[in-house]
Amino acid sequence: MADSVDMIVLDSVSKIYNRGRLNEVTALHEVSLAVASGSMVCLRGASGSGKSTLLSIIGCVIPPSSGRAIIAGKPLSRLPDRFLTIHRRSHIGFIFQQFNVLPELTVLDNVTLPLLPLGVGPAERRRRGGELLAGLGIDHRASFPAGQISGGELQRVAIARALINDPPIILADEPTAHLDSKLSREFMATMAELKRGGKTIVIASHDSLVTDSPDLDRIINVKDGRIDVS
Ligand SMILES: Nc1ncnc2c1ncn2[C@@H]1O[C@H](COP(=O)(O)OP(=O)(O)O)[C@@H](O)[C@H]1O
Ligand SMILES: [Mg+2]
Repeated sequence: MADSVDMIVLDSVSKIYNRGRLNEVTALHEVSLAVASGSMVCLRGASGSGKSTLLSIIGCVIPPSSGRAIIAGKPLSRLPDRFLTIHRRSHIGFIFQQFNVLPELTVLDNVTLPLLPLGVGPAERRRRGGELLAGLGIDHRASFPAGQISGGELQRVAIARALINDPPIILADEPTAHLDSKLSREFMATMAELKRGGKTIVIASHDSLVTDSPDLDRIINVKDGRIDVS
């Protein structure tokens, strides 16, 4: 895909949780944005501003309540849930703040977990997982239970898991919130490398170690469910 193509397009996207109930929340108000293929952007905003909701829509986890979302060339708004899931599995790699690893499973099993629903066999799972772990310098931890490795290693396990399907889009939700400054810098260096490899990256964060990164192409300010252009 050419660099000038938008990998992510949101057109007047709104998200209303609990619609029609007493606890109805409009988390996004007609948000429009485009992220160019191969770029790295940051969604910056206070807690509750709508960053995670935006990432969930971009990541094909939840559909918008209204508006259009076109992710990796596919219009999502009218897709039934199971197609949203299929599109997510092949196009999105998600890195969460808590890393969401399963502590009893080995590092290798955690990393290759997303390949199970795709029907990839055990030998191929081991091959791909081993290659990624080696690339991130943690192959010596492959057979360790994920609950017994360090924070820095966990962060790399989360990155490896997000990359296992070789998705074009990487999304990270406050990825440095539980990392010290050295590990946060390492994380951003890895993201910069992935960007150079052609990935499109969206990071939700208000951490200055993220927002000050020279590798970001753009900072998108989110405020009260709107893109703040002021
Ligand atoms: N699953 C949900 N159900 C109901 N309200 C939600 C849900 N997720 C988020 N919200 C609400 O939507 C708003 C935006 O939240 P969120 O997208 O998590 O913001 P951020 O990630 O910037 O902290 C907040 O008011 C939050 O309470
Ligand atoms: Mg959030």
